[in-house]
Amino acid sequence: MTAAPTTPGVLADRYGRVAKDLRVSLTDKCNLRCTYCMPAEGLPWLAGPQLLGDDEIVRLIRVAVERLGVTEVRFTGGEPLIRPGLPGIVAAVADLRPRPRISLTTNGIGLERLAPTLRAAGLDRVNVSLDTLDRARFATLTRRDRLADVLAGLAGAAAAGLSPVKLNSVLMRGVNEDEAPALLRFALEHGYELRIIEQMPLDAQHGWDRATMVTADEILAALGSEFDLTPDPAERGAAPAETWLVDGGPARVGVIGSVTRPFCGDCDRTRLTADGQVRACLFATEESDLRGALRAGADDEELARRWRTAMWGKRAGHGIDDPTFLQPARPMSAIGG
Ligand code: GTP
Ligand code: 5AD
Ligand code: SF4
Repeated sequence: MTAAPTTPGVLADRYGRVAKDLRVSLTDKCNLRCTYCMPAEGLPWLAGPQLLGDDEIVRLIRVAVERLGVTEVRFTGGEPLIRPGLPGIVAAVADLRPRPRISLTTNGIGLERLAPTLRAAGLDRVNVSLDTLDRARFATLTRRDRLADVLAGLAGAAAAGLSPVKLNSVLMRGVNEDEAPALLRFALEHGYELRIIEQMPLDAQHGWDRATMVTADEILAALGSEFDLTPDPAERGAAPAETWLVDGGPARVGVIGSVTRPFCGDCDRTRLTADGQVRACLFATEESDLRGALRAGADDEELARRWRTAMWGKRAGHGIDDPTFLQPARPMSAIGG
């Protein structure tokens, strides 16, 4: 492999893609136990000393913004709201120049209380996971009876001016596959932007099955039974979601068809795990350790060099359909989606 180019402000791979969107996982822990993500007893969590401290996280984000051209920073988990330092991290990232756009993907628990603080710290917007509107089904699916907290979190986010509020729903056969129209009705009523997601092979239990996955075509057919969907004229860019105008607009709905409608060719994402590893792809099987370098005293330029080298090794796509596909060793909850 040739060496990664060192053009300032550019984080490129060998396929001509340039990463501008940094997804940072702040913890691998979560306060829900969604059956498609984790077993009931949870997972072996990262140990304290393995985790980056708040200052270490901000330092690495600063390197990405100042030296590598990152313009979007998204915090994920696990559940990012359970990290006590989150408001401080957001504030420090909002002070970087050029100021990146800052977003958060959360399950919504605790968001009602935290939204005003996070907004004041500089958070721009949130995406909230919500797979069902039925209380009993929510309790079975997440193994916690917390639907009311999520709904309050959504309302709190909108009230705090975090906008747009997006809803993420993973549709699963025999679990919530019948709920697509109801979720869209709910989103339209409240002014949230719904995206329905094809399930990807990233569960800790390795239970994913291509044959039973609810596909983007099925999602569109279900939505189309109640709504008139027309292609969204807005530019898609590198977004995972393909969007449609609902009943002529302006409301929109998105479908994230990672498996049957892959978007890897336009990918602009780079990822940092809570223990300081760079992942070039959600499905990468290799990681590059920045924590070790940082703790051994590497300067910013050395950290940027390592990050560039990691991204230069990014593969063309996730390869889910290849016979040789191997699910990454880390589950979704430790990568951040
Ligand atoms: P917006 O910028 O608000 O559109 O966010 P997003 O859709 O990029 O991110 P979000 O965290 O809300 O993730 C929604 C879904 O897209 C989740 O299932 C993610 O795992 C998935 N996703 C995000 N980035 C990627 C990616 O690079 N590749 C694949 N295959 N899926 C992704
Ligand atoms: N496939 C697709 N999306 C998933 N999410 C969690 N697990 C999966 C999976 N296996 C979604 C969550 C959350 C986002 C970060 O990823 O619902 O909204
Ligand atoms: Fe990018 Fe990998 Fe996601 Fe494809 S699967 S869009 S290459 S992160």
